[in-house]
Amino acid sequence: MTKQDLNILANENEFDLINKEWMLVTAGTKDGYNTMTASWGGLGWLWYKPVAFIFVRPERYTHDFLENGDRVTLSFFGDGCREALQLCGSKSGRDMDKVAASGLVPVEMESGSISFDQARMTLDCRKLFRSDMVPENFTDKATLERWYNDKPGGGFHTIYILEIENVYTK
Ligand SMILES: Cc1cc2nc3c(=O)[nH]c(=O)nc-3n(C[C@H](O)[C@H](O)[C@H](O)COP(=O)(O)O)c2cc1C
Repeated sequence: MTKQDLNILANENEFDLINKEWMLVTAGTKDGYNTMTASWGGLGWLWYKPVAFIFVRPERYTHDFLENGDRVTLSFFGDGCREALQLCGSKSGRDMDKVAASGLVPVEMESGSISFDQARMTLDCRKLFRSDMVPENFTDKATLERWYNDKPGGGFHTIYILEIENVYTK
């Protein structure tokens, strides 16, 4: 993997990137990490820093690693590895070794974070902020009903704001 200037992110279509390409959110280090697929989130600026925003439900095993450590990678695969991303988005690392099963090859970054050899781009991030969504903060009650009140997909998301410290490409 080659470290790039952060400005290469300007070449990405940030609106579509996460939603259409999906990403693996990987938290932890080689001593213990977990990865999951995510398609909700964004890239932007906060506190004069380049940041990523991700939204992770508390039931995810990856949530445990996000809570307990500061290092996170967001890995993008282009059109590739779709089956691997489906697997990492439908099974839990609590129940199986998803990385081995999906054929993903873990790579330790300089920071100690983990990404995957197949990734076309990896954002090497550090956690800056976390907050749990709470029902009283939903100004649109239909969204609350649709996504949380009958718990169709689990509990209220935790919002994580991550500083993008390094960008790597394959
Ligand atoms: C395309 C796709 C996008 C997903 N996006 C998110 C997301 O943004 N946030 C989230 O909490 N879960 C999301 N999920 C669900 C998790 O990836 C899934 O529950 C996964 O099995 C959790 O794995 P874990 O328990 O090993 O962390 C998504 C799943 C798929 C297939």
